[in-house]
Amino acid sequence: MTEQAPFDVAIIGGGPGGYVAAIRAAQLGARVALVEKDRLGGVCLHRGCIPTKALLRSAEALLESKNAPAVGVAVKSAAVDFTAMMAWKERAVAQQADELEKLIAWRKIAVFREEGRLVGPGSIKVGNELLAASRIIIATGSLPSHLPIPGANLPGVLTSDQILELEAMPESLVVIGAGVVGCEFASIFSALGAHVTILELLPRILPPVDEEIARRFQQILRGQGITVHTNASLQEIRTERDRLRLLFTLGEEQQEVVADRVLMAVGRRPCCDALDEIGLALRDGSLAVNDRLETSVENVYAAGDVLGLYMLAYVASYQGIIAAENALGGSRQADYRAVPNCVYTLPEIASVGLREEEARAQGIPYKVGRFPFSAVARAQLLGQPLGLVKLICEEPSSRLLGVHILGPRATDIIGECTLALRMGATAQDLAHTMHGHPNLSEAIYEAAWGIIDSPFHLRRL
Ligand code: NAI
Repeated sequence: MTEQAPFDVAIIGGGPGGYVAAIRAAQLGARVALVEKDRLGGVCLHRGCIPTKALLRSAEALLESKNAPAVGVAVKSAAVDFTAMMAWKERAVAQQADELEKLIAWRKIAVFREEGRLVGPGSIKVGNELLAASRIIIATGSLPSHLPIPGANLPGVLTSDQILELEAMPESLVVIGAGVVGCEFASIFSALGAHVTILELLPRILPPVDEEIARRFQQILRGQGITVHTNASLQEIRTERDRLRLLFTLGEEQQEVVADRVLMAVGRRPCCDALDEIGLALRDGSLAVNDRLETSVENVYAAGDVLGLYMLAYVASYQGIIAAENALGGSRQADYRAVPNCVYTLPEIASVGLREEEARAQGIPYKVGRFPFSAVARAQLLGQPLGLVKLICEEPSSRLLGVHILGPRATDIIGECTLALRMGATAQDLAHTMHGHPNLSEAIYEAAWGIIDSPFHLRRL
């Protein structure tokens, strides 16, 4: 077994938690090792955010071509070329992956491309080598969860990883679980022409989203031809020739649906498998850390999905930065008061802060300001007038408590609201800030005017 010269920081896992931690440690002048058994970039780059958004782009391009004649552009025919679309997705990922490799090399971060195992304090086994590092950051991510029901492992029952490798467009798709993964794939495959059915165990879809927004989104899904069953308890999946039959109950009623493919999107679980060797404490199956992201073992820090807190790429990166700074002598605390939640559906959903039901349950006096995208010029011009901005402000201070957006580019325009919430801004702050015109973020500005007086471009209140 060979031994490397000691590193200041060694990181296990090269996803958005781990590789950003590595860059931050390098920025601070540390000698950094990054251990990754697969490709740098993690689920986000290879099996999550990036490939799904590439497919979403294809779905949007198809919808735009179909709507092009309405704005005076003749399109002879618009159709999905599935093979070419998957090749585009691969190219999009490869381009980002290539850029990331160059970035890591430019930072002079030593990359070890094997599985790493923590074998002692400051010691990681990587293949036949032993890495020594004064500080270690664990960022080993998460894996899709499975449902323990008969037929869950049948061919054609796919995880979110496997659906990205499909070779042909399914005519019909059943999505189990109406969380973020389920709703994003439902939107994409429906827009591409598949017949989509969603089965959700709970009485509502998208549990982390404001109830009103989720209800309105569910109506939009129905309008798009997607069948949504809530309170649906899946019992079994059977093969039927080359298709799949799903047996489920809706309350007392037994129901069935047949489809070409099934997507299992019932959550993810932290990858803690190789971590207990040095006695790291776990909490409910996740790696336990304090608010400075220190684990129970001295000099070992952690970031990302392995913590089981928010399984979001940008939260992982935020934590990676804090873990790296603290590993190198800092003492920053992770602050989750303003975590944006971005759902890349058609239309998009984005939110930050308290949901209305949370404000109500906490007994906080509040006022709601709403503004529909149908009254926003830019949304009209884009042909995407569905949805609204909903602001929730504390009464009487008008301090922002939460913002919920359903509509075009919601995931982009939530940015100003995240900053506003983090800075303790009020509805006045938003209303007295000039917003460009014509601009989708005018909906936020108008909703803020709805809190302090009334919106400008709305006749009906
Ligand atoms: P999730 O936990 O968000 O949603 C899973 C859904 O499945 C829930 O609605 C749950 O009630 C439902 N479910 C559970 N058991 C079921 C059953 N037996 N039958 C029917 N429904 C059932 O998990 P998801 O969507 O798989 O996402 C995993 C993680 O990845 C989440 O933390 C999510 O936030 C994150 N993610 C974030 C994205 C983004 O930020 N745009 C995109 C994709 C994933």
